[in-house]
Amino acid sequence: MCGIIGYIGNKEIIPVLLKGLRCLEYRGYDSTGIAIHKGENLNVVKSVGKLSNLEEVLKKEHLLNGANGKNGKNGKSGHVSCGIGHTRWATHGEPSDINAHPHFDSDEKIAVVHNGIIRNYQEVRDSLIQKGYKFATETDTEVVVQLISYNFKETNSILKSIFKSVNELEGSYALGILFKQEPDKIYAVRREAPLVIGIGSGENYLASDSATVSQFVEKIIRLEDNEIAEISKENINFYNLKGEILKKEIQTVTRSKDILDKRGFKHYLAKEINEQAEVVSNLLKDFLPSHEKPIQFNHLKLTPDFLKTIDRILILACGTAYHAGLVGKYVFENLTSIPTEVQFASEYLNSKPLLTEKSLVIGISQSGETADTLAAVKKAISKGATFVGITNKQDSALADLAKEHLLISKAGLEVSVAATKTFLAQMTVLYMLAIYIAETIDSSNPKKLSLVKQELRLIPQLIDQTLTRQEHYQKQVLQYANNPDFVFIGRGINYPIALEAALKLKELSYIHASGYASGEMKHGPIAVLDTKVPVVSIIVPGETYDRVFQNSLEAKSRQAPMIAVAVDGDKKVESIFDTILRIPPITELISPFLTVIPLQFLSYYIAEHLGRDVDQPRNLAKSVTVE
Ligand code: AGP
Repeated sequence: MCGIIGYIGNKEIIPVLLKGLRCLEYRGYDSTGIAIHKGENLNVVKSVGKLSNLEEVLKKEHLLNGANGKNGKNGKSGHVSCGIGHTRWATHGEPSDINAHPHFDSDEKIAVVHNGIIRNYQEVRDSLIQKGYKFATETDTEVVVQLISYNFKETNSILKSIFKSVNELEGSYALGILFKQEPDKIYAVRREAPLVIGIGSGENYLASDSATVSQFVEKIIRLEDNEIAEISKENINFYNLKGEILKKEIQTVTRSKDILDKRGFKHYLAKEINEQAEVVSNLLKDFLPSHEKPIQFNHLKLTPDFLKTIDRILILACGTAYHAGLVGKYVFENLTSIPTEVQFASEYLNSKPLLTEKSLVIGISQSGETADTLAAVKKAISKGATFVGITNKQDSALADLAKEHLLISKAGLEVSVAATKTFLAQMTVLYMLAIYIAETIDSSNPKKLSLVKQELRLIPQLIDQTLTRQEHYQKQVLQYANNPDFVFIGRGINYPIALEAALKLKELSYIHASGYASGEMKHGPIAVLDTKVPVVSIIVPGETYDRVFQNSLEAKSRQAPMIAVAVDGDKKVESIFDTILRIPPITELISPFLTVIPLQFLSYYIAEHLGRDVDQPRNLAKSVTVE
């Protein structure tokens, strides 16, 4: 959940590091920092808070000029520039200047940036303290740099000190390391945390993701677990933990000049919500070119024999991806009749895994890096289940685990920390997978499947129509911006949307919100209702309509302000709801694609009105790489 950048070459170092950090800020924004070679020494500059704070410090120290972003005293053209940078999501020690990375050893001869967790840090720290080491911070990262320093003194070899330290450190982590005595090299280590090297001509890059590297170059090498790279300007050596040299494959990525373009929107979140029709449309073009033909999943190597014997489906995910999984449960059970369960990945880790070789496990993660999901999936795989991975990131740990059972949700880079377009993309893939399984095992009425496919093909244009109403939604929801609590209710396939809406409102606006199955309200939660707690009912025509209506009446009778998400032409809702967020008419089974949109806008506009940091809400990070 932290971001690492590194550069070695002839460019001015600080602007390159800052550009990289800007792309990586989604991974954490509690503090940022850089380390560069300056004269004989290593120079570390860091600051609590966002990247803009670091830029201010660099300007004050005359390391960065004003508007043109060029260097002050450092990295003159023609000289080899070498540096590393970091953006942090705090795990060990509060966000502060001192706990910000890079971290020095006591002699200030080694600087380290780190993403991940050192599990045995307390043990290593205690043993180093016994050897006379003093620690200035509360971080696990300082343990890494002090251990390397100790091992360097013991071995008098940079590489040996790294090999030895990595063998002693437990956990999941990625490291970028600079040594004062080696001004033209960066060392990198990967263990279960992403790290990519970008290869240029006479320059090389290091970053936590390939999107960042693709800003600069198109040739990349992905480090695998337990690999170490020794990166210089013209050359890169790769080693395993025994110190043996490895050969690595170079891959090509599409060069992307500006992955951070907001395309005229005020926030990435608004841009990403507005991209949802395109995202779903692109996926449908790939998988469902016509409703008359079976779904195409050519690259998914699940045999019909296996699909016909699946005894249960287990979906593992966290947060918004978990909500997509809950929608998937309804779709799988409706179309394939295969019992489907959805579990929070973090909870699955503590449960007894009731899986057989006939079980299908689906892991969903937009980042493909979520530690809980990865650990849960590994546990399920170890029980012999077949695993299908759904992720937005081809170069992720989840994608590696899925191997030939991988479905990429192709939503494009999602910068805003709150997931929106990746949610719709995950749902689309789940619907496609359910139809594919239903068609293969012949479990559903072909006419019904054809109808669902026909309706799905209309979804992009219905999303487009819904998006045209955003200004209207804005006017409708702002009157509720000062309410301290919200309750969202839905039933059946829209119960997960109630959960997702509550999550979105909490993350974006910091207003407390809960999502409930509407039938559960009377079993307790209704006690919280009064004139200050708006109830948002997701009420669409279909099997659940009458019951949601009844539950909404119960809420209304407790004087709660009532908001509905309802389809055009539904007059009945006008009798009880104060505000109606209208969506185009839609069948219940595919309604989540539309019902979620006004609720994304509700959260967005309220958060914006309250002056929240919409794209980077407090305390959060885009990928959560700690359990
Ligand atoms: C979504 O808005 C959240 N930021 C969060 O719940 C997220 O969905 C969750 O952490 C899972 O992330 P993943 O999809 O990358 O695994």
